[in-house]
Amino acid sequence: MDLTRAALDFRSDTVTRPTPGMRQAMAEAEVGDDVFGEDPSVRRLEERVAALFGREGALLVPSGTMANLLGIGLHCGRGDELVLERRTHSYSHEVGGAAALLGLSFHPLDSPDGLLSVPMVSRAIRPLDVHEPRTRLLVLENTANLCGGRVLPLPRLRELRAFTRERGLKLHLDGARIWNASIASGVPLSAWAAEVDSLCCCLSKGLGCPVGSLLVGDRADLERARVLRKMLGGGLRQAGVLAACGLWALDHHVERLAEDHATARALGEGLARVLDDRFRVQPPETNILLVHADTPETTRRAVELWNRLGVLCFSLGETSIRLVTHLDLPPGAAGEAVRRIAARPA
Ligand SMILES: Cc1ncc(COP(=O)(O)O)c(C=O)c1O
Repeated sequence: MDLTRAALDFRSDTVTRPTPGMRQAMAEAEVGDDVFGEDPSVRRLEERVAALFGREGALLVPSGTMANLLGIGLHCGRGDELVLERRTHSYSHEVGGAAALLGLSFHPLDSPDGLLSVPMVSRAIRPLDVHEPRTRLLVLENTANLCGGRVLPLPRLRELRAFTRERGLKLHLDGARIWNASIASGVPLSAWAAEVDSLCCCLSKGLGCPVGSLLVGDRADLERARVLRKMLGGGLRQAGVLAACGLWALDHHVERLAEDHATARALGEGLARVLDDRFRVQPPETNILLVHADTPETTRRAVELWNRLGVLCFSLGETSIRLVTHLDLPPGAAGEAVRRIAARPA
C-alpha cells in the first residue's frame, strides 16, 4: 500500500472491518438458535467473558447502546432518576433511550476532567420527598470516550462504590472500551467488575468485531436482562457467527491495543510539535486523542482541511477534534498524518 495516498481513518475505532482470521472463524462457527439457548459459540463467548470479568454471567447483545439500556433497566424503574457525567455516552449519544423507553430521568453532572467524585454524587442525590424522583443509579464510563479515552482510576471507582452501597444506589459501568483501560493501566478486568452491579463491554470498538457487546453481572440480573433484550427485539438466533468473531478477538486483539495507544501517543506528540498555539493537544491515555482549538472557527477549518488531506476525523463539541486509533490503520499512520498536517497549516 502507498501510505502517502492512503485515507487515514481516525474517525472512530468502530470503522474496522473483520480481519481474515475473524472471517475464517465466522465461517467455521458452530451455531444454533440462541433464543432457545442453543448456540454453542454464543455460550462459549458468554462464559469466557464472564470468567474474564470474574462475574456469574454475560449476555451477548447487538450493541453497546442496548447493553447500557439493559444494564440501566435492571436497576431503575419508571419515574426513577440516574446520575452520570454529562459526557457519558448513555446521556449524550444513546438517543435518550433510558428516558424514552424506560421512563427514567437523567441527572447529568459537569466535571472538568469527566471524573465524578463522592461529593459531586452526594450533592446530586435527591431527598426522599413526595415531590422528587428517587435517585437509584450511578452510571460511570471507562474509558471515558468524550473526555479523550480517560481511564477511570480504580481507587476512585472503589470510593464511589462504597458510597453508592452506603446510600442504597446501584452502579452500572459503561465499559465499552474497558479493554483499553485494562491494557493501559495494567488493572485486570475483574478488579473493575468487582466494584459494579453491571457493566457493558463492546467487541465492536478496539477489538475490531463487526457487531456485539456484552452485559456482565449476576446470573439473576442477566435472566431479567434476557427478557428485556427480547422485548426490545434483540433476541439473536444463529449469533454464533458473531460470537466467533468475539472469541477470535479475545485471543488476538486485546494485547495489541497497546499498539493503538502507542500510535495515539505518537500522533499526539507529532501534532503538538507541528500545530501552532491556537491548538492544545491533550495527551492521550488510551486510543482517543483530543486536540482542543481556540475557537469554533479554528476547529471547523482544521477538521475540514484535515479531512481533505485524508486525515479523517470528527469535531467534538465546538472546540475539540477527536482522533481515534485502531487496528485498521496502516503502519506509520501517525507519522504520515503529522507529515500531511505539517505541510498544510490550517
Ligand atoms: C463509551 C461508549 N459506550 C457505548 C457506546 C455504544 O456502542 P454502540 O455503538 O455499539 O451502540 C459507544 C459507542 O461508540 C461508546 O463510545
